[in-house]
Amino acid sequence: MKVWGIRIAMVDSKRKYSNSDGTLNIQSLRSDFPVLSRSIRGKKLVYLDNAATALKPLRVIESLERYYRQGTANIHRGVHLLSEEATTAYEQVRDIVAQFVQASDQKEIIFTSGTTAGINLVAMSFVKPMLSPGDEILISYLEHHANIVPWQMLCEQTGAKLKIMPISESGDIDMDQCQAMINSKTKFMSVSWVSNAIGTVNPIDDIVRLANGANIPILVDAAQAVAHFPVNLQRLKADFLVFSGHKLFGPTGVGVLFGRTHHLESMRPIFGGGDMIKTVSFEKTVYADIPARFEAGTPPIADVIALGEAIKFVTDDIGFDRIAIYEDHLLKLATTALRAVSGLRIIGNAKIKVPVVSFILDNIHAHDIGSILDQHGVAVRTGHHCAEPLLKFFGVPATARASFSIINDEQDVEALVRSLLKAKELFA
Ligand code: ALA
Repeated sequence: MKVWGIRIAMVDSKRKYSNSDGTLNIQSLRSDFPVLSRSIRGKKLVYLDNAATALKPLRVIESLERYYRQGTANIHRGVHLLSEEATTAYEQVRDIVAQFVQASDQKEIIFTSGTTAGINLVAMSFVKPMLSPGDEILISYLEHHANIVPWQMLCEQTGAKLKIMPISESGDIDMDQCQAMINSKTKFMSVSWVSNAIGTVNPIDDIVRLANGANIPILVDAAQAVAHFPVNLQRLKADFLVFSGHKLFGPTGVGVLFGRTHHLESMRPIFGGGDMIKTVSFEKTVYADIPARFEAGTPPIADVIALGEAIKFVTDDIGFDRIAIYEDHLLKLATTALRAVSGLRIIGNAKIKVPVVSFILDNIHAHDIGSILDQHGVAVRTGHHCAEPLLKFFGVPATARASFSIINDEQDVEALVRSLLKAKELFA
């Protein structure tokens, strides 16, 4: 079976959260998310803001607690047992992440504070030294501000130009134009895999192939992709790939930068400090090898360790096969239900989408929709979703965005529609 253009093979029906036929048991999964038992303004919480940040399962929460209760220590710096244990746990997560994205080597995995930090690091350390006035950096119309502003800052500093791949009315990248925009001045490409604002899944294999064919290094912003489908960097020949832990059921303040070894080894660090050096004298400092070279200072140790648990939660307890099948079901259900609400316009109807539905309703301001939904316990994000140029393209200043995930059930879709009908009544 194929979902989101990916061939899905059902494997291992004995995982956690399983019905007797191996399908995902949503209620047992939901019972592992303590915050879902909260009532919000006297109503059951309907959390539809998963694209902003995912809720955290017990496995992640308990890992954070374990570190602070039983294992607090700094890493790489102590000979005492607590430090040894923390170092081992932290470095094991590098292996877990390397396997998660199918990197060739764990030294290609750099822990960062999140997607934004990863993009900025590549911009400053890898791209800036190669730019001359008139050079071009290519991004798409679908980007989050985190994949726009760092490149604009580089352009200001170097005289390079930012070029934007156009999209169609449905919210799909125009691949012909994308190809036509690549030329001898293009020095770097940076493209999101999935649009946070409207849910488009970009043909990332094709885009990376175009970049590879023209010998242009490319970064893939996978912030919105990693909770939905597997990453295989043996097949996807991106030069860099970034994501955040918190959108993957992990903690905030931790993320991953993957870079190919030859690139990382050629890059100068941006931050200097402890742990990123081999030797220091007042005359000269010799930097550490990768990955330590890019991890100056005490990292978010508990959060990295808990990120490992978040990844195991996704890959071992649930599995991307079941995520794809279930989320595709939710997307279809929500899209059909929302289309039936009169006066509702969905913004972004791309060919392939993750379960993110951005919409406007009558002429009610998105923030008012958000506030009314909140009165009913329904949490959505409203505004421009850190993608102002994209919303301008669609001619709207703001949308309400319902972003679903495996923690949502069919009742959540019903609650969303019910509260929207209430909002319509109120504004009628
Ligand atoms: N980038 C996050 C979102 O889309 C915050 O909501």
